[in-house]
Amino acid sequence: AVAEKAGYDHFMLKEIHDQPQAYRDTLSGRLFKGYPWVYLPELKLTPEQIKQFRNIHIVACGTAYHAGLVGKTAIERWARLPVEAEVASEYRYRSPLITPETLVIVVSQSGETADTLAALREAKRHGARVLAVTNVVGSTAAREADDVLFTWAGPEISVASTKAYSTQLLAFYAFAIHLARIRGTLPDEEIGPIVHALTKLPEQVESILQRKDEIKSYAEEIASREHLFFIGRGVDYAVVQEGSLKLKEISYIHSEAYAAGELKHGTLALIEEGTPVVALATQPDLYEKTVSNIREVMARGAGVLGIATEETAGLAGSVDRLLLIPSTHPMIAPALTVIPLQLLAYYASVARGYDVDKPRNLAKSVTVE
Ligand code: G6P
Repeated sequence: AVAEKAGYDHFMLKEIHDQPQAYRDTLSGRLFKGYPWVYLPELKLTPEQIKQFRNIHIVACGTAYHAGLVGKTAIERWARLPVEAEVASEYRYRSPLITPETLVIVVSQSGETADTLAALREAKRHGARVLAVTNVVGSTAAREADDVLFTWAGPEISVASTKAYSTQLLAFYAFAIHLARIRGTLPDEEIGPIVHALTKLPEQVESILQRKDEIKSYAEEIASREHLFFIGRGVDYAVVQEGSLKLKEISYIHSEAYAAGELKHGTLALIEEGTPVVALATQPDLYEKTVSNIREVMARGAGVLGIATEETAGLAGSVDRLLLIPSTHPMIAPALTVIPLQLLAYYASVARGYDVDKPRNLAKSVTVE
């Protein structure tokens, strides 16, 4: 078992470190520094079919749902199609408005989650075309969907999902570019920088991993706390939902992920002297707004760890501690910011003495309802 963990103490830590290679594998053969920018030859979907879609539903559970939230933002921004993202256990029972012009994307690491498969079947019953984003070749989702995009993350053993999520983000980015190019909604001058940002990700993740001790020391500080808040706007809000879930799953520290601008509508009441808050501020166009939300929590005594990119590094003056991640395209930032959030959950769990790879009450794959 030690050999399988490649010398790491836990599968989760190994899988966090697998991410640079997983990114290379998921992007391999799919990206080009010029027309057609992305190439997804496995798709049976024709350009004519893509042009006919009127809307997209993204359906998944848990961490895969959180990847879907980022996917929704990228597809709406770049391909200008309305996208709903919903957890499968709700979607399947609310008679969603699915038509033959709806593309339903199911996201599932295992491809075996019962609720997600039920949603897939519900979508097909209504005549929708179904695309599965999955990590497992030969899985039920891969077999039953009309189209499949595989994430080439390699086997994920740890119950807490890491590289499956981050490679799902990459699959969404590639698919969103593909849709946008066919629909003519994103000029080449905008696609070029996005593709460039994607190609830089593996080495940028490596550079974040080299600074893991910064996160470890923060994790050790908050390990004795019972509550923590994560805040962010836009795709930062999508990523903090994943960071919060990760922390809860394996460290059992209660946390809430909040859209930074929504805090003042109630939950701000829970911020008191010393409450730890992790604030993501990687989006230049939302930066000023996020900083003002950080001021709101700091005024109530919160201790804030800010996570920013080089473009938003001015955040240093507004937080107690700053973690800088490498510069990237704003929409791609989640593929980097999730790494410190995974490490935070991991080191908090270790500091509290839990079995990181086997969190209580959770299963890797939930194949019954
Ligand atoms: C379980 C796991 C989660 C996972 C979810 C969906 O609840 O504990 O980590 O996100 O299932 O799994 P899937 O295989 O469909 O992505």
